[in-house]
Amino acid sequence: MKAMTSKTPKDTLTIMTELVLPNDTNGFGNLMGGRLMYWMDIAAAIAAGKHCNAPTVTASVDNISFENPIKLGNIVHIEAKVTRAFTSSMEVYLKVWGEDSTQQYRYKSNEAYFTFVALDPNRKPRPVPQIIPETDEETALYDGALRRRQLRLILGGKMKPDQADELKALFFK
Ligand SMILES: CC(C)(COP(=O)(O)OP(=O)(O)OC[C@H]1O[C@@H](n2cnc3c(N)ncnc32)[C@H](O)[C@@H]1OP(=O)(O)O)[C@@H](O)C(=O)NCCC(=O)NCCS
Repeated sequence: MKAMTSKTPKDTLTIMTELVLPNDTNGFGNLMGGRLMYWMDIAAAIAAGKHCNAPTVTASVDNISFENPIKLGNIVHIEAKVTRAFTSSMEVYLKVWGEDSTQQYRYKSNEAYFTFVALDPNRKPRPVPQIIPETDEETALYDGALRRRQLRLILGGKMKPDQADELKALFFK
């Protein structure tokens, strides 16, 4: 296997732009949540793929709250970046905005964390390179990723709460 070189979050930056068309909307003329999650999944998969240069699968999606509806005819901007890599998994942070180009304003729609796992040709998890954060925001996301990972693994039934040392440290001295 090729030697793995560490990367930065910037190396994984993925920006996707879409236009909300009638077939993307519900009866209120707003973008359907499922359509947005589909685009987010693709943007996140591209970011994860840029990091590990290998096929990946979506392992989990953390809670997504839709703060503002995105209207028919508006533009959707999705920005995805890998925050941290573990052994075979990568956490991807996404920010989503809507844009009304006629009125010339942008509004936040949501943000979310997706986790991707890199697979080898036998479809088994394979190691990924480490990531080195550069900016203050990237460092904060990197530091928080360990706690978010433990929480999602507990919720996914993959970790026992008493193994979650990072989370315990928040509550017990
Ligand atoms: C994700 C998947 C590859 C994990 O396989 P697995 O046999 O459970 O592998 P492991 O237990 O060795 O875990 C491998 C990695 O996945 C991570 N992982 C497993 N389940 C996870 C979950 N629910 N959330 C976040 N990460 C998860 C583990 O933490 C581990 O990460 P690490 O190597 O960085 O420590 C496997 O469950 C799978 O293929 N799921 C279906 C993926 C898919 O089809 N997605 C599209 C939706 S249909």
